[in-house]
Amino acid sequence: MTLAERVAWLRGEIIRHNEAYFIHDTPNIPDADYDVLVRELRAIEAEHPELRDANSVSEQVGARDSTLFQEVVHAEAMLSLDNVFDAHELRQWSERVAKGLGADPTTLRFAVEPKIDGLALSITYVNGTLQQAATRGDGRVGEDVTDNVRTIRNVPAALPGVARGRLEVRGEVFLARDDFHDLNARQRALGAKEFANPRNAAAGSLRQKDPHVSAQRPLSFLAYQLVDVSGSIPFANYLETIHQLADWGFLTAEQTRLEVGAEAMIARSDWYEEHRHDFRFDIDGVVIKLDDFAQRGQLGFTSRAPRWAIARKLPPEERTTRLLAIEVSIGRTGRATPYAVLQPVVVAGSTVSMATLHNQDQVAAKDVRPGDLVIVRKAGDVIPEVVSAVAEPGKRRAKKWTFPTNCPDCGQPLERAGDESDTYCVNPACPAQLLHQIVHFASRGALDIEGLGEQRVAQLLGAGLVSDVADLFTLRAVDLAALEGLGELSATSLVREIENAKSTPLSRVLVGLGIRHVGPVAARELAMHFRTYAALAGAPLEELEALAGIGPVIAQSVYQYCREGESRERAARFVADGLSLIESASERALEATLEGRAVVVTGALVGYSRDGAEAAIVARGGTSPGSVSKKTYCVVVGEAPGASKLAKAEELGVPRVGANEFETLLTTGTWTRTLT
Ligand code: IVH
Repeated sequence: MTLAERVAWLRGEIIRHNEAYFIHDTPNIPDADYDVLVRELRAIEAEHPELRDANSVSEQVGARDSTLFQEVVHAEAMLSLDNVFDAHELRQWSERVAKGLGADPTTLRFAVEPKIDGLALSITYVNGTLQQAATRGDGRVGEDVTDNVRTIRNVPAALPGVARGRLEVRGEVFLARDDFHDLNARQRALGAKEFANPRNAAAGSLRQKDPHVSAQRPLSFLAYQLVDVSGSIPFANYLETIHQLADWGFLTAEQTRLEVGAEAMIARSDWYEEHRHDFRFDIDGVVIKLDDFAQRGQLGFTSRAPRWAIARKLPPEERTTRLLAIEVSIGRTGRATPYAVLQPVVVAGSTVSMATLHNQDQVAAKDVRPGDLVIVRKAGDVIPEVVSAVAEPGKRRAKKWTFPTNCPDCGQPLERAGDESDTYCVNPACPAQLLHQIVHFASRGALDIEGLGEQRVAQLLGAGLVSDVADLFTLRAVDLAALEGLGELSATSLVREIENAKSTPLSRVLVGLGIRHVGPVAARELAMHFRTYAALAGAPLEELEALAGIGPVIAQSVYQYCREGESRERAARFVADGLSLIESASERALEATLEGRAVVVTGALVGYSRDGAEAAIVARGGTSPGSVSKKTYCVVVGEAPGASKLAKAEELGVPRVGANEFETLLTTGTWTRTLT
């Protein structure tokens, strides 16, 4: 391909993606991949003036909208922002700004604020009354969405105290994450198509032909620009305008900071990398703007963006890569999880070469096939997942992938209960299950036996030295020393580790046994009540059910487990091999860190059932009511939290705490960071 052909190809691709994103509200590749194309085109155009073209897509802002709505010509063009991708590029930008102004970079004043991943909107007020609202469109001409915008909660119909003049308030329309989850839950209930992300949902909702539908979509608007079309209000700097907007009743970004000097500004922009998930809405970057309007005037604009502002994009959480194969792994409960083997790709700062596909239905719904280009997502601490395949027009795809009928490890048929989405290998002797059961038994939260990772356990299984967790306690150093990579010294130390683990408190042994539905909280509850395994195993079902924090499901599961022949045999061997299997008084005395405090939990917490989370709070002397009030100590926000509880907490000023701090809250009675 010649360079000219490459440029033509890039322009074609960018136009195609622009249309998908701006007009159809359904982007076909992640933003980060799009940015790569634009950067390449710009770099070539910069180096090869002969290939430049005033009509090039690289000079354009957005795309002309569809023709569903009336056109609106903007009084002042709605520009885009140039991007930088790291602190180094941001520093270079600040140096250009300082040079352009002939100023010392340490004296410049910058506003640093979140870049909301929504869509730009301009709202015109004439003599203080909302007259028109328009999308950005191609920057010059947008769409009239006035009727829909009137239904947005935080858009005032009138500006208090403004009697004259023409003003435009610009900002971002978005869906808060909670509202997005609620909306998708409603879509699901209606059997309607779910939205891929909050931005798509916001775009689709704003551009509804029927304002009644729009009104039911919980859109929000955050203001970040005041255009004084008639020049009636003399503002000298940006922060003054933001305060004015807030006074008029607009939502503005509370995280906005004024920083003096380039280094302070860069440091503040770094803060966003760590806190991007703490926002109520999706952000895809940080926007940095010169505060001083006179300086802005000096720098002016390029054809598509101001020179006085820049967007620092955060590391992308979605990338495309090639799907090499789909495999299935068998977990300790026998659950068969399909996963993708990928061409390694850096997502959210780490290299990803495998990603989950969750279950059989999800693979079928996503219809991803080996050889496809796929979108991979990794957000925060969440495990990487395959989102979807990217259409590659003209490319032949592999056959539709089908879920195996037999366990890839033991070859026995896989089973799926009628109404469950998961498929299981039900062969109790399946080596993959055994492997993961033993690894789990030896893991941190359970018997904490150092040196028993997946590889070592696989070796022990392969050598026929273990076939049940109980076999660990009869291992001898001489047998171990014969294994590859395990000298006498490490063999002896592993045996010592196993010996030490015999005094593990009962609660952690219960965790290690992996009894269905029994997480750490239930295990502690059971151990504290019964004190010995023998007492637990002999307890009637009613006694189990009567325990605080142990619901009928857990009770039934424990009751059944203790009565199975295999469990009884295992327990007998534990006793014979000298495991203590008791919960001593010191373990039982948990510090009452939450004495008299009401902690409300909303959404799912990893590792806890709803009852389990409540039991953990109660065990610490607290209570866990179902609703938020003035007396609530804090609200712990889990996965897919309830919007009403969050809204209530916000209204009453009750602190909201991330799910990752739940353990800290239990052990210390406080938390390190409040969610914003
Ligand atoms: S200022 C002339 N501030 O990002 C400057 N834009 O990539 C106009 N955006 O079109 C934009 N958060 O839709 C500005 N705090 C923020 C923003 C923001 C999100 C969007 C906006 C803009 C796009 C540019």
